[in-house]
Amino acid sequence: ILNYKYFLKDILYIIFKNIKKPYNMPNSYKRVDAHLSNLGYCSRGEAKNFLKMFRVCVGDERIFDANKKAYHNDITVDDEPLDAESLVILMNKPSGVICSHNDAGVLIYSLLPIRWQRRNPKISTIGRLDADTTGAILLTDNGALNHKLTSPKSDVAKVYEATLAEPIKGDEVDIFASGELLLNGEKKPLLPAKLEVINPTLVRLKICEGRYHQVKRMFGSVGNRVIALHRVSFGDFSVE
Ligand code: URA
Repeated sequence: ILNYKYFLKDILYIIFKNIKKPYNMPNSYKRVDAHLSNLGYCSRGEAKNFLKMFRVCVGDERIFDANKKAYHNDITVDDEPLDAESLVILMNKPSGVICSHNDAGVLIYSLLPIRWQRRNPKISTIGRLDADTTGAILLTDNGALNHKLTSPKSDVAKVYEATLAEPIKGDEVDIFASGELLLNGEKKPLLPAKLEVINPTLVRLKICEGRYHQVKRMFGSVGNRVIALHRVSFGDFSVE
């Protein structure tokens, strides 16, 4: 299993993690043109030309027949192994970037290498951050993993650093920790959250839920306003 980090303009870390079953690395056996097109190297129709332009090998043997079947792990392109069949990416999201596949504006996917933008299945964010929120966000092409980590039952801890418009009053720590705070329009109280005050207008908040605009609404409920929000970590994945 690969386990390394790769940096792209300081905003992107790729983590191929030994995620426990059933998320261990696949090594599928299929046609070379299917491997290449699923991983975004070229379209299926372009595969024949791709094999002429690049040195594609199965083991030690250079191949020109895109119909040939092979295991993913046996294929190289110009002596490089193929991109992993499943990706989990940790991005340090910049501000102004939108977590959506189809919206006006700069989409988070446009920050990925072109080859990854062409992958099938698509890479999607695990949950979302607001356009003006920066920091840790995971992206993956693994639908089951995505579902697991975004399900309401998931208790992944997220740590946010929030800059506030008004100084903290003091009772917010207890209010957020109470497990009784009701957000506007909701019937179920929030789970207890841990608030750490760094200075009167800078705080760290640890939550284990992911409700809509949760952090901004929590501070709204105590008469304050978040003017900058940065997610420091998502589970074990930190951008610090
Ligand atoms: N809470 C918010 O209000 N916004 C985010 O982007 C994430 C959590």
